[in-house]
Amino acid sequence: IALGCDHGGYELKLEIIKYLEKSGLEYKDFGCDSMASTDYPIYAKKVCEAVQKELDSSFGILICGTGLGMAMIANKVEGVYAGVCHDVFSAERLRKSNDAQVITMGARVIGPELAKTIIDAWLKSEFQGGGSTPKVQQMRDLEAKSFHPEK
Ligand code: RB5
Repeated sequence: IALGCDHGGYELKLEIIKYLEKSGLEYKDFGCDSMASTDYPIYAKKVCEAVQKELDSSFGILICGTGLGMAMIANKVEGVYAGVCHDVFSAERLRKSNDAQVITMGARVIGPELAKTIIDAWLKSEFQGGGSTPKVQQMRDLEAKSFHPEK
């Protein structure tokens, strides 16, 4: 699991790290490393480029103030799909229906206990295929067309 945050998400990321360690889950922290003001695109890019290298086996968690900027940047990295989740149901659907590898959250929106519960639900969920497959495929097709218009 690749982890990243900006200053707005730094404290929540530390809580999430404690949770991942307690759960025995492997992670790599891509920064930032303090509450000093910084730019969320830097960390979204680092995390998503790491996820991009192992699309089928790696996941990413990105935390900023709202989760919004992180998700917007993450979805600009080819092959990487991300969604903002502030509730358990959406977190499950993000894997089960949308097959996204990256979850983003806003530390100014939810507290650490809910964030950990959301991550837990997300990690326990897998893409279910079925009726979701053609929709995810359409997303991939659209992505291929916009990233490679020459083809
Ligand atoms: C703070 O820079 C804030 O804009 C950021 O954490 C995030 O909420 C952006 O989407």
